[in-house]
Amino acid sequence: MQYNRLDAICSLLNASDKVIDIGCDHAYVSIDLAKKGAKKILATDIHEKALNVAKKNIETNGLQNIITCQLSDGLENIDTTNFNTIVIAGMGTSTIKHILSNQEKRKPILKIIVQSNNDLPELRSFMNQAGFAIQKEIVVLEKKHFYTIILYKKAKQKLKKRELEFGFFQENLQEYYDYLLKKYETILKEVPKKKIKKRYQLKKKIKWLNKWKKL
Ligand SMILES: C[S@@+](CC[C@H](N)C(=O)[O-])C[C@H]1O[C@@H](n2cnc3c(N)ncnc32)[C@H](O)[C@@H]1O
Repeated sequence: MQYNRLDAICSLLNASDKVIDIGCDHAYVSIDLAKKGAKKILATDIHEKALNVAKKNIETNGLQNIITCQLSDGLENIDTTNFNTIVIAGMGTSTIKHILSNQEKRKPILKIIVQSNNDLPELRSFMNQAGFAIQKEIVVLEKKHFYTIILYKKAKQKLKKRELEFGFFQENLQEYYDYLLKKYETILKEVPKKKIKKRYQLKKKIKWLNKWKKL
């Protein structure tokens, strides 16, 4: 877990990617990527205020020939024709799903880097059904928060329930699995005995995590 969140996102991008940075906020990801050598980036946000700060930051770094800014709710106003990669980070799963549900605009996109602030199983399930396959997941610990950044490529992939829940097993994620294990054990203690389904689901997650701990 040597990265911080933004570094991890940028580490999954190549200079040759033609990137739309959706919900760019102050354009830190776009700026990092441009500094890495990318030639064409579109930084978008739904809020004009955020985009104005983004424009200022881009100008301060002298990157206005590489990074273009556009106001848009998700992909609504975006011409995606000449892009092949989307970065979408720092939002909740329902917003990400809403944005990426635009199948027509998504057509040219072959690679998506996504970091959701919640409900990763729902996100993995959605991306799977949308025809994207997990290539890599990076988990970072920043300010006492675990963030999962997922690299997707357009491809079919069959995921087991456990992989939808936690991603693929990674030996270096013991600290993260320990954190999840403690979290679910604490929740389980608080769930009343009569909530049989909820308790069953929690026990299943605990069992999976215990197995991974022992690997
Ligand atoms: C917490 S910031 C994350 C910024 C940056 N992507 C990052 O990961 O650090 C979320 C940004 O998403 C933008 N946003 C939220 N909903 C959006 C939408 N439907 N379309 C475009 N941008 C959106 C917000 O305005 C905000 O700037």
